[in-house]
Amino acid sequence: MQIFLDTAEINEIRSRLDAGLVDGVTTNPSLIAKAGAGIFERVAEICDAVDGPVSAEVVATEADAMIAEGKRLAEIAPNVVVKLPLTAQGLVACRTFAEAGIQTNVTLCFSINQALMAAKAGASYISPFVGRVDDAGGDGIGLLAGIREVYDNFGYETEILAASMRGPAHVEAAAAVGCDAATIPPKVFDALVAHPLTEKGLAAFLKDWEATGRKGLD
Ligand code: E4P
Repeated sequence: MQIFLDTAEINEIRSRLDAGLVDGVTTNPSLIAKAGAGIFERVAEICDAVDGPVSAEVVATEADAMIAEGKRLAEIAPNVVVKLPLTAQGLVACRTFAEAGIQTNVTLCFSINQALMAAKAGASYISPFVGRVDDAGGDGIGLLAGIREVYDNFGYETEILAASMRGPAHVEAAAAVGCDAATIPPKVFDALVAHPLTEKGLAAFLKDWEATGRKGLD
């Protein structure tokens, strides 16, 4: 499964690239605003740092204006994915980009029907918001599983990008139901590797080794 970082903080991204575990990045207007950066400059910086897909979202709400904004975003770098809201107008823009061979990420998905419509409009990625569905009393992982089933039933190639992920349990569940990707905040990314028993076991190994009085392996 691909793992994307869900942040516009460039240092948070750069500091997590060395192990080759980050497959891409997603941003949204809130994340860009929080980072205090200009969208064109920041997306360019992220695209320089990361080879994989980098989602950059439009802020217009009418299809023609979304298309104009999306084209400007797509010109930043070849790995930009134009992020569009899951509205009727957003899907018109999605169809236009699909026909032009420009990658899209259709975001703010909260139902299987919405995901079905996005796939029919030629979306490259669909972003179901797992945490926000849970917050509203729904079943976020059930939504992912339902979308997987429907896409498989009809052979849609739109990739399921699990979003609004609140912790490692969401990532495990998204992987288990067959999502193609998950986008996660940096802290959740770190928590995928960390385990208290790993830390405890390592501390015991090192203590026993230190007791031998050896330096390093010698
Ligand atoms: C995804 O594309 C969004 O940027 C993000 O996952 C939203 O997550 P939130 O519900 O934590 O804001």
